[in-house]
Amino acid sequence: MRYKVFVTRSIPESARKKLEALYAVEMWDSENTPVPRGILETKIEEIDGLYCLLTETIDEELLSRSKNLKVVSNMAVGYNNIDITAASKRRISVTNTPGVLTETTADLTFSLLMATARRIVEASDYLREGQWQTWSPMQLTGQDIFGATIGIIGMGRIGEAVAKRAKGFDMRVLYHNRSRKPEVENHLGIEYADLQSLLKEADYVCVMTPLTPETKGLIGKDELSLMKNSAILINTARGGIVDENALYEALVDGTIWAAGLDVFDQEPVDLNHPLLTLPNVTTLPHIGSASIKTRTTMAELAAENLIEVLEGRTCKNVINSEPQRRV
Ligand code: DGY
Repeated sequence: MRYKVFVTRSIPESARKKLEALYAVEMWDSENTPVPRGILETKIEEIDGLYCLLTETIDEELLSRSKNLKVVSNMAVGYNNIDITAASKRRISVTNTPGVLTETTADLTFSLLMATARRIVEASDYLREGQWQTWSPMQLTGQDIFGATIGIIGMGRIGEAVAKRAKGFDMRVLYHNRSRKPEVENHLGIEYADLQSLLKEADYVCVMTPLTPETKGLIGKDELSLMKNSAILINTARGGIVDENALYEALVDGTIWAAGLDVFDQEPVDLNHPLLTLPNVTTLPHIGSASIKTRTTMAELAAENLIEVLEGRTCKNVINSEPQRRV
């Protein structure tokens, strides 16, 4: 076999077979335990292709150990776990899996929004814990979704898909993005707003932007203080975009009403994290794209991306466009 490939976790068989048909593949064969850093450091010295997940930090120090590495294929659309500059410097291509998880992630975002607004998890626990004594007028009352205003921060593919769902609920949709998108505005009937206006007017603020140095801590104390007391913050993008300490304070002192979080700054989140003590926080373990079909498609696409680069073919999912080295 011409090339050696290391896969950092157990992946669906269909994806694994694509790689094994062509290369000498080694896999960290575990569902639930990330590959230890020490093993990754050893493997990287001898491989041509790395197939990894968002749980691996692919930084300068790791990449500097590589000798033959040509491609890092991330099984995710987000790639904040990879130092793109360090990879480009070594002419290592980095690929991701855009497009295939858009609708599934938008479904989860909207589910989380609805679950948080209508206190679904809290209400279910209330029943199971034997607290349900009688029907009562204001018991477990939440916020309405239909006709409310949603503010979407980041109008990429997933932001658009969330906007479509919101329109189905007769919501007014505001969005904020680095650049305005007049075609999307016309097509979906949504309105551009600067960040401050969006935060002031929205009943639901959805964070849908990638984590970059510019978006790190984008939603902090000042931003939260602009939001309505009845507003709900939803984050299914990356934890680092929201200042978790400021969010905790805002939820405790009633600056905002609730939050739905699929992502955390540190994952898995520490069970003693203050946010987990609050009844007005609905939490999930980063499952935005977690449908069987979508995760299988992502795994296969990540394998195809890796193969395209190693075989010297054009790969449309290369993030750092020019590298394609040593092939
Ligand atoms: C991604 O792809 O970046 C998600 O966070 C996991 O699907």
